[in-house]
Amino acid sequence: MEKIVSLTKRRGFIFQSSELYGGINGAWDYGPVGTLLKRNVKDAWWRAMVQDREDIVGLEAAILMHPMVWKASGHVDGFSDPMIDCRTCKKRFRADDLDGAICGQKPSKKPGKGGQDFCGGDLTEPRSFNLMFETALGPLSDTSAKCFLRPETAQGIFVNFANVVQSSRVKLPFGIAQIGKSFRNEINPRNFTFRSREFEQMEMEFFCVPGTDDAWFEKWVQTRWEWYGQLGLKKDRLRLRPHEKLAHYSKATTDIEYLFPFGWGELEGIANRTDFDLRQHQRGVRTLPAWQKEGGELTGLPLADEEAEYHKGKLSYFDDEKKQRYIPYVIEPAAGADRATLAFLCDAYDEDGAPDANGKVETRVVLRLHPRLAPVKAAVLPLLRKDGHPERAEALYKDLRKRWMVEYDESAAIGKRYRRQDEIGTPLCITIDHQTLTDGTVTVRARDSMTQQRIPESQVASYLQDLIGLP
Ligand code: GAP
Repeated sequence: MEKIVSLTKRRGFIFQSSELYGGINGAWDYGPVGTLLKRNVKDAWWRAMVQDREDIVGLEAAILMHPMVWKASGHVDGFSDPMIDCRTCKKRFRADDLDGAICGQKPSKKPGKGGQDFCGGDLTEPRSFNLMFETALGPLSDTSAKCFLRPETAQGIFVNFANVVQSSRVKLPFGIAQIGKSFRNEINPRNFTFRSREFEQMEMEFFCVPGTDDAWFEKWVQTRWEWYGQLGLKKDRLRLRPHEKLAHYSKATTDIEYLFPFGWGELEGIANRTDFDLRQHQRGVRTLPAWQKEGGELTGLPLADEEAEYHKGKLSYFDDEKKQRYIPYVIEPAAGADRATLAFLCDAYDEDGAPDANGKVETRVVLRLHPRLAPVKAAVLPLLRKDGHPERAEALYKDLRKRWMVEYDESAAIGKRYRRQDEIGTPLCITIDHQTLTDGTVTVRARDSMTQQRIPESQVASYLQDLIGLP
């Protein structure tokens, strides 16, 4: 993991947020190549979930939402982790995740799995800590102005369900997909970007007819599992983990986990959320007048419970075929863009041997990223900085960059330039040499095999397109 963290910093993938001021815990900045990689991950998700399908539409909801949303969703009362304090060193830990927790003053023999005994300090009883970040809307700071940074993008989809049904021609079953930032005041952010306080989610809520939900759940677990494999994650580093303990909204949940260098970790959770959220928002809307009368107080308000009314409310769906009104069930594949990016980075990292200019074999660091995810698709390299090579190379570079992220590099020896591209996962290096000027051919050098081939310059674009596999 240390090697990956160091490469990502050295080559401009990921930096610590506010590093200049000593950093801030749980927040990360993506550098020039990291931004491209993460964008490619999100684009691949969007393409698979929205563009390639006829039954899913997109949405981009605001991060700030009405506070009643979070009361109705259950987050105000239930979105918390058990936290314990160490009286000896004053550090805080997650009571259900004491793996690696060590007291700052009285470390025990060896950190590791094993719970409180391994902490070494004097621990309090666990108490619950709500993970939502609070802020205030506008210049007033009384309770009526209190609001939250969203801890999941999903609620933006649920509260827009009726808007989407009314404004688009969607019919059940259909999905609404969204990519966006979420915030959680995690007690122990750790494992690089894996658990952060600010992160990006790629979530889709798939609305279906009650009774068809179990089948759709299985289908989505399978579809999402395949997506990671199609983009190159090694199958033996992926596993499915059905949950025994379920979240308050879920009837069934299965996680897709990846074997990171620090152990197995969740990439995505697929949940059967039943009709829980839409029902809760029907309740929330009814409770609104009481909430306003109480001055925006979010505690202790009874949520109206009129079963018969649910099926008539704003968030129900009129089924033309059945001539019936009901609340749809929801299957939710919820992925993390940062976690997926980290998994692709870890999976792609490799070291092998490559000959230097004198034929001596040196260690080569290479990111074997899927060409679709690679931040830079090709590098155009003039062999010499003279004899017309740069002009010819620059013309090709300018042409290719109309379609893809491509780099031009004329500094250093050719081997060193190859190595630089290998480290950021560029699948193809195209070299312009004296032969190019006479017969119009270039050398294409493959990142993974390091093999070289001469092809006509006019075929470079289609060669690259075949490699990336997208129009
Ligand atoms: N809407 C359901 C939901 O939010 P979740 O399992 O809590 O479910 C979904 O989150 C995904 O979001 C996770 O699988 C993970 O990829 C990502 N995620 C959650 N918390 C995160 C954190 N603190 N840092 C980075 N990614 C996180």
